[in-house]
Amino acid sequence: MTRTPLDQSTTPYASALQAQAAKVSVNLMVPGHGATSEGLASELADFCGERALALDIPPLINGIDVGPASPLVQATELAAEAWGAQKTWFLANGASQANRMAALAIAGLGRGDSVIAQRSAHSSFTDGVILGDLLPLFVIPSIDTARGINHGVHPDALHSALTSAENDGIPVSAVYIISPSYFGAVADVTGLSRVAHEHGVPLVVDGAWGPHFGFHEDLPESPTRLGADLTVSSTHKLAGSLTQSAMLHLSDGPFANRLLPLLERAYMTTQTTSPSALLLGSLDIARRSMATGHDLIGASIVEVEKFRDQVRASDTYTIISDGFSDFDDIIAHDPMRVSIDVSATGLSGHKIRDILDSEFDIHLEISTAQAVVAFIGPGKFPDLNRFANALLEIASRLDPHQVPPALDFPPLPQPGPMIMRPRAAYFSQYVTIPADQAAGRVSADALAAYPPGIPNVIPGEAITPDMIKFLQQVAASPIGYVRGALDSKVSHFRVVIEPGE
Ligand SMILES: Cc1ncc(COP(=O)(O)O)c(C=O)c1O
Repeated sequence: MTRTPLDQSTTPYASALQAQAAKVSVNLMVPGHGATSEGLASELADFCGERALALDIPPLINGIDVGPASPLVQATELAAEAWGAQKTWFLANGASQANRMAALAIAGLGRGDSVIAQRSAHSSFTDGVILGDLLPLFVIPSIDTARGINHGVHPDALHSALTSAENDGIPVSAVYIISPSYFGAVADVTGLSRVAHEHGVPLVVDGAWGPHFGFHEDLPESPTRLGADLTVSSTHKLAGSLTQSAMLHLSDGPFANRLLPLLERAYMTTQTTSPSALLLGSLDIARRSMATGHDLIGASIVEVEKFRDQVRASDTYTIISDGFSDFDDIIAHDPMRVSIDVSATGLSGHKIRDILDSEFDIHLEISTAQAVVAFIGPGKFPDLNRFANALLEIASRLDPHQVPPALDFPPLPQPGPMIMRPRAAYFSQYVTIPADQAAGRVSADALAAYPPGIPNVIPGEAITPDMIKFLQQVAASPIGYVRGALDSKVSHFRVVIEPGE
């Protein structure tokens, strides 16, 4: 049955909020700032503007979010249509919440507790694994060893992982992969979905970095339209909504009916009972901007491509995605991010990012030992000439005889073997021990070095000497830190207690 297309130029929820904010009401309810700048709220109004207070409307207001046909429900239906989903949830706790919902739903499928997961999964998925008591079987993404960055998973690698789990009699409930990667590498979601479905399991795609996909012919397609059963989307990252707002999309695929009630429950479990109207309203507006912004999105893609050409024309810098064809798991790249290899400067990406920040007031998304990565919002036109000129000026200052310093980030070590289930380790009694005694012990914590934010240790895995060294080196770098570590130097680890300890 074909559905009548909805009018994507409307913003039912955001408009209802605006109408409410325009009323001269007496607000005797939360939030305590009362939606005006009077009295004690004047400082807050100075901080974020009186308009933000007026729009900060609490939940359960008739005509806004009450009932099955409320403006909020209509807004989620418009979003579902725009991204090609059957149903979309508006989330107030980022794509992190979407990952936790996905893990809880997978755990509820009742098909077995194992999930084939890309090792580079975000830490929020690890949190979901613990919440859902899942047992991850990791599939390692392809790795650009020269640059220490990871990409995606090829459908053949997924097929092997699923086949070997089947041969070992391990019941797998779902597959979880990431596309695009942090560096913009796009995996073959169609192929991955075919493989997952042939093996009888749903495919979850963490598309946190690709919320803009599908809104222009020069952008990759939305995973939802390529066979992903569930798509995690960090709308705030690149689709223009406010920070912290995100979406989860459920497709019309073969698992939709089973997943739907599980996701409704997981949403209740993970969503605050007071989601910010500003956040949810921004999702409604971002959806309209994306759905109706074809020409502006196209124009920004053209500008970013011109910038890439400027970088290509330099002798010093190279565009990392130009080498993506060397990796058979990558079928496309996100044009809105520009990953630049800076190693020919003899400076690390971190140093270049620091210089851009402190001397040129240009702020980049991330850096690695060899690269800096810029993100450009679709339909946005930041001054990329200024960025190109700054890069050229940095290059012009270099001493051609300078010997490149040793890069300060070590290669990613292999994770240790999993000794206990992650959830059991997370809830075990633990002891805190110095790092020099931690090798061989079972971690009670999840630890992920940023950048790039790949879980290095998850609860239940053995801590290896290489891992200790790696985490401490990242922690010691000026912009590195280790999420989940007990202190900034990673001098101690929390490990599962041993008998007699
Ligand atoms: C792959 C991936 N998934 C999920 C998330 C979580 O997104 P959010 O910050 O919206 O919670 C991130 C965050 O960087 C991420 O990199």
